Amino acid sequence: MAEEFRIIKRPLIQNAVNRPGRPLKNGNLIMVTSAVPGEGKTFTSVNLAMSIVSELNKTVLLVDADVARPSLPNVLGIPTGPGLMDLLDNPATEMADVLIRTNVENLSLLSSGNPHARATELLASDAMSRLLDDMAQRYPDRIVIFDSPPLLVTTESRELARHAGQVVVVVHAESTLQADVQRALSTIEQCPVKLLVLNQARTLAQGAYGYGYGYGYGR
Ligand SMILES: Nc1ncnc2c1ncn2[C@@H]1O[C@H](COP(=O)(O)OP(=O)(O)OP(=O)(O)O)[C@@H](O)[C@H]1O
Ligand SMILES: [Mg+2]
Repeated sequence: MAEEFRIIKRPLIQNAVNRPGRPLKNGNLIMVTSAVPGEGKTFTSVNLAMSIVSELNKTVLLVDADVARPSLPNVLGIPTGPGLMDLLDNPATEMADVLIRTNVENLSLLSSGNPHARATELLASDAMSRLLDDMAQRYPDRIVIFDSPPLLVTTESRELARHAGQVVVVVHAESTLQADVQRALSTIEQCPVKLLVLNQARTLAQGAYGYGYGYGYGR
């Protein structure tokens, strides 16, 4: 599993920090999404964050952008509290007040924050554009990973995708319909770098239903 994530993170890191002559706007903002719910977005976001942070000199901010159904608090055992929604809704909230440090060096978390009736509008707001640009530029060496809602169920991820330099689309092997994957990809056509992760693929070596990752590029 660790080896699979090493393979997945390599091009993401290269695109984020080092594209000589081909700068990628907001390349350090990586959005993890999927076509439909339950394909492994949170699993991939957390493992990708852990894998990237294990590199020398890499800091990672993992953001729970699945504001309608936040899952990082459960998965990582962090308290629910102020986070992304509060940063967008309340100008008095500072990033430093809501960032959650972890016992993993160089890994911090931003929870989705207090539930908000106008969550989708907030994610599409000018405040969100400013926040994302600030996240991308203030620490250019930091990689920000967004655990995001599924593309075909809500429109929030499409808003996020307008700002993310790279989008990782998780596809549940032998479960998600090809047509759904294609429809999901068509909603984020404008995004410069899209990578597909085939999750829980059956591999020849395993011979049975396993947890392998396939890997593909879309550019
Ligand atoms: N490669 C994998 N190996 C083992 N377990 C996995 C793998 N991918 C996903 N899972 C498990 O499958 C379940 C669904 O995954 P996950 O919660 O990451 O999906 P999701 O896309 O975030 O779902 P949602 O749309 O509900 O947010 C979880 O229990 C997760 O631990
Ligand atoms: Mg999730």
